[in-house]
Amino acid sequence: MGRPVVIGNWKMNATIHQAGLLASAIRNSVSDVNGVQVVLCPPFVSVQEVSNSLQGSGLKVGAQNMHHQEKGAFTGEVSAEMLKGLVTHVILGHSERRRDFNETDDLVSLKAQMALIAGFQPIICVGESLSERQEGRAEEVISTSIKSSLSGIGPGSDFVVAYEPVWAIGTGEAATGSQAQDMCQLLRDCIAVVFDRETASRTSILYGGSVGPDNAAEFVSMRDIDGALVGGASLDAEQFASIVRTTALERVSSSV
Ligand code: 13P
Repeated sequence: MGRPVVIGNWKMNATIHQAGLLASAIRNSVSDVNGVQVVLCPPFVSVQEVSNSLQGSGLKVGAQNMHHQEKGAFTGEVSAEMLKGLVTHVILGHSERRRDFNETDDLVSLKAQMALIAGFQPIICVGESLSERQEGRAEEVISTSIKSSLSGIGPGSDFVVAYEPVWAIGTGEAATGSQAQDMCQLLRDCIAVVFDRETASRTSILYGGSVGPDNAAEFVSMRDIDGALVGGASLDAEQFASIVRTTALERVSSSV
């Protein structure tokens, strides 16, 4: 079982001012919760503001993306070096980046290598589309995707993996707990193949896709699901805090 982790992916939402307020509200709402690593991932322009709001708390800040090269003529991009001191995590290979910016597993692998060099924990996202699932190819797609995305990462690295089926993101149609468990177990087995069983069991594997206060327990009560990657519900401090609390109840109490 990996460490319990709940991550808020704010996507392209909130101004800098709103981001600071939201981070403070979340910080206050989860101040009584122990044992769950909470990571907030605002847009780049708000990373500094959110980092300021979370100073002195156990909450961490993550970026939503990052370029794989050190520096250079890459208009509009942000490097690992620029994020140093501001973030501890970076989301890589989110399906929206794969879909809208043609990011491939090979690129995700390069980004993950750069993130680790910078000392960040990559949060590597994989997920099948609806048609891939309907064609019975979900397992094959996920296995190939995670193995390629992890290729090039050295043994002993710390990373997080998120299973986010494309059809469940922002649709209100979450996977069932058992669908998510099956895929997260498969991901753990793939990590064991790429590295070893010890790495597989200590890696945090999260489910993402229409997670909210009402269904969080269904996921985090599953053996191979260590937490959640939350989109829409992470923009509401109370809803997000409720997911964090549920994760603490299900996973922290069960591991002591
Ligand atoms: P929703 O929680 O809005 O479905 O988004 C999930 C997601 O993409 C998190 O990265």
